[in-house]
Amino acid sequence: MSNLSATDLPSPAVTPLAPPASVDVERPAGTGHLNLVVVGHVDHGKSTLIGRLLFDTHSVPDGKAERIEAACKAEGMEFEYAFLMDALLEEQAQNITMDTTRVPFRTERRSFTIIDAPGHKEFLKNMITGAASADAAVLLVDAQEGLREQTRRHCFLLSLLGLRQIVVAVNKMDLVDYRPEVFEAIRAELGAFLAKLGVEPAHFIPISAKFGEGLLRHSTQTPWYRGPTLLEVLESFRANPPASGGPLRVSVQDVYRFDARRIVAGLVESGSLSVGDEIEFAPGGKRSRIKSIETWPQSNPPPRGPVGSGREVALTLEDELFVERGQIASHLSDKPHEARAFTARVFWIHDEPLRSGELVALKLGTQRAEARVLGVQRTLDAVTLEIGTGTSEVKVHEVAEIRLRVRKPIAFDVGGKVPSLGRFVIMRGRRIAGGGVIDSVVSEAPEGNGATPISRTAILGHRGCIVWMTGLSGSGKSTLAQALEQRLLGSGVLCAILDGDVLRTGLSRNLGFSPDDRSENLRRATELAIHLANAGVVVIAALISPFRADRASAAERAKEKDVPFAEVFINAPLAVCERRDPKDLYKKARAGKIPQFTGIDSPYEPPLAPDLEVRTDRASVDDLVERLVQLTLSLSKPADPAGGGAHI
Ligand code: ADX
Repeated sequence: MSNLSATDLPSPAVTPLAPPASVDVERPAGTGHLNLVVVGHVDHGKSTLIGRLLFDTHSVPDGKAERIEAACKAEGMEFEYAFLMDALLEEQAQNITMDTTRVPFRTERRSFTIIDAPGHKEFLKNMITGAASADAAVLLVDAQEGLREQTRRHCFLLSLLGLRQIVVAVNKMDLVDYRPEVFEAIRAELGAFLAKLGVEPAHFIPISAKFGEGLLRHSTQTPWYRGPTLLEVLESFRANPPASGGPLRVSVQDVYRFDARRIVAGLVESGSLSVGDEIEFAPGGKRSRIKSIETWPQSNPPPRGPVGSGREVALTLEDELFVERGQIASHLSDKPHEARAFTARVFWIHDEPLRSGELVALKLGTQRAEARVLGVQRTLDAVTLEIGTGTSEVKVHEVAEIRLRVRKPIAFDVGGKVPSLGRFVIMRGRRIAGGGVIDSVVSEAPEGNGATPISRTAILGHRGCIVWMTGLSGSGKSTLAQALEQRLLGSGVLCAILDGDVLRTGLSRNLGFSPDDRSENLRRATELAIHLANAGVVVIAALISPFRADRASAAERAKEKDVPFAEVFINAPLAVCERRDPKDLYKKARAGKIPQFTGIDSPYEPPLAPDLEVRTDRASVDDLVERLVQLTLSLSKPADPAGGGAHI
């Protein structure tokens, strides 16, 4: 799709901006031009497959195949279909400066373009940018090698990007004597992996690209396979846009002035529009009615019937609005989100990790925005699907759930509603460093009377809460509190420790260790914790708090103030604590130098039903911290107004 430029636009004197009745389309499956990506491990036969498809559909320029064949013969090499593809790409490369190439081919029923990129790195980049424009994907797996890391990674990207029309071609069946059990084993393994990602391929097809088996014709080598050929499946796929039923979205590309009129040039990303429709531009919320619609490029004669999304349009409006590139027009009944903070899943391809706190440049449709990474909630290994938490960075080839905040509100759709407007690219300097999809809006405070107060949750991406650690002196409260604090800070969570030893040198320095003084000490700690939590801080309280009644009061008070509260029992037997005795207090207490020492001559009442209990004499700090991180993240999770929680 090319950008419109002022000189490309029809001169109003020659072509009046006559209104077509409406811009709309409903394309049945199997018609329209289809954009394809072929994904899979580098060596699994992509070039051969593409070469063979081009050759068998007579899409290779005249004489090209013969010339390559002759060249092969001269060098004593066997002719390979992959060479065809390479030769075509070389030709294109001379006049193409981008990383991606487009290889056209056609059958009697349909025309196709294969969007491709040389090399694995470029390919990933192509996926997160170019796959956006693909309608369908062929997932290629080598029958002999089966699933490889790259295969899994590509599957993950397909699911992340919401590409749902997928056909799996199990290639090189000739190398395994067309044995059905090999095919079935791959089908089972890949099917299960894709199911975990929520992807269900249209078909699994046994093929041999080299011998043309299963591509255009049914193979006599696989009588046990009764499904369609690869081309039959490709011909049956639906071209984008899927239907006109979606909400109207027009990305504004530019605004031009002709005489006194403003013409808004944009791309219809979804839905349909008609003259007379009232539309709103987000962000900003300016409204007007459509006075005229001109589709572009202009067909000759001008389109009579409906033309649809995916088309460029030039609009004039009834009112003189200040509209600019990057805005999105919609009907009033179904508008995109307009927000500053959101959760997203990103796929990172830059060698330098993406870090919590970092400022990055986002491109979403025609919008550009600077965004701060508020935190990395979880990472996910795209190959093993293992989830990691408590990290503050996203490494190359990792997928992560992150929170982002942009300086000024941007407009977008979530959850695949309008895929092209829920997808973004992250730039580092001039390089594409990652791509992502937006999952949910981080809630803003509800509107008050008049002004909208700025919500702390929207800024921080989490709520304040209290994680109350109770346990004997020497049980490991401070150690765990500090480890937890580091992990949370690393994930962009604002937190603070309230430690008994610290409080007692300041706020509670006039108190001793009688039951009454301990109660008062804990009352002060509770009030301070609630105050901080209300300011958005995740408070980690590390206090002996030996009496159940005092802990119950703390929990009760937090509840009154609507602050999430969890009681964590840091448990180690007294004997263990006494052996550790990091501050020599047990020794002194035993010697009678510290009266009313907890566990010696003052009781400790263990919690009866703590939210979490950890045994510090049985597990390592690292293992225990993991459980604390999980607890804290769920406690501090912001309530999602849309109800749709983000998940990887
Ligand atoms: S609490 O009982 O009121 O919750 P808090 O956690 O604030 O106690 O303070 C405990 C810290 O005070 C211990 O880590 C220890 O260093 C010190 N301390 C001094 N005297 C005592 C005592 N009699 N009992 C317990 N801790 C004491």
